[in-house]
Amino acid sequence: WGPVAGWLNKTTYESRFRIQPVEGAGLSWDAAIGFARTSTQLRDQIDAALPQLGPRIAELAAKYGLPSDPPIRLGAAPSPIKLASLAGPAQILRQPAAKPPVIRVSDANATDPSAETMTVGKEIFNGTCAHCHGPDAVQAERRIDLRRLRIRYGEDMRDKFWTTVHEGRPSKGMPAWREVFTDDQFESIYTFLLTVQSPETTN
Ligand code: HEC
Repeated sequence: WGPVAGWLNKTTYESRFRIQPVEGAGLSWDAAIGFARTSTQLRDQIDAALPQLGPRIAELAAKYGLPSDPPIRLGAAPSPIKLASLAGPAQILRQPAAKPPVIRVSDANATDPSAETMTVGKEIFNGTCAHCHGPDAVQAERRIDLRRLRIRYGEDMRDKFWTTVHEGRPSKGMPAWREVFTDDQFESIYTFLLTVQSPETTN
């Protein structure tokens, strides 16, 4: 998370936060480079080069906002004052929790069942599918760009969707979701995907 948080803090949040590494299982770890057993020469060359790269690595770490402070143990703070004195976490705690999206009954759309279905589908999509297919289905990699379903399959789009989400394509990295979602939920995801289909007609 360090590189992600650091980069976001630097680029999106104008370094508003202080990124403080904390101790804990899976929160920091050493990195290593592996070599094939026979590549001893390469291994030795890299071993020799690494110390000289120290300053350059530090430069890059700063450039990408990587947190560099040693991790602290949260529970070990002598008093809450210590934690509060860290600008970062204290500020994070002050951020209001993200509000769950509210579907207002008074919304003109709310009377349109397909709009509501679309909203539900979009939420499921962003919670589960976006991890691979991109938030709101915005995905640069064509193979997994679900905005291209219509271009790719035309009339068969619906069938392809159902078969793929039910059965997955395990050998290609697409999990099967049959046990996870109901058909109503698949229907709502499909309704959402219909709203983002690319109008492009060329392949
Ligand atoms: C772990 C990553 C991952 C997740 C999560 C995931 N998918 Fe996929 N999905 C893939 C990959 C990879 C492919 C492309 C498989 C291939 O190359 O044929 C794919 C393909 C698809 C396709 C067929 C695309 C096409 O053009 O043939 C559909 C439809 C689809 N996914 C829907 C979903 C939906 C809906 C969800 C959420 C419920 C979801 N996927 C979650 C990885 C994922």
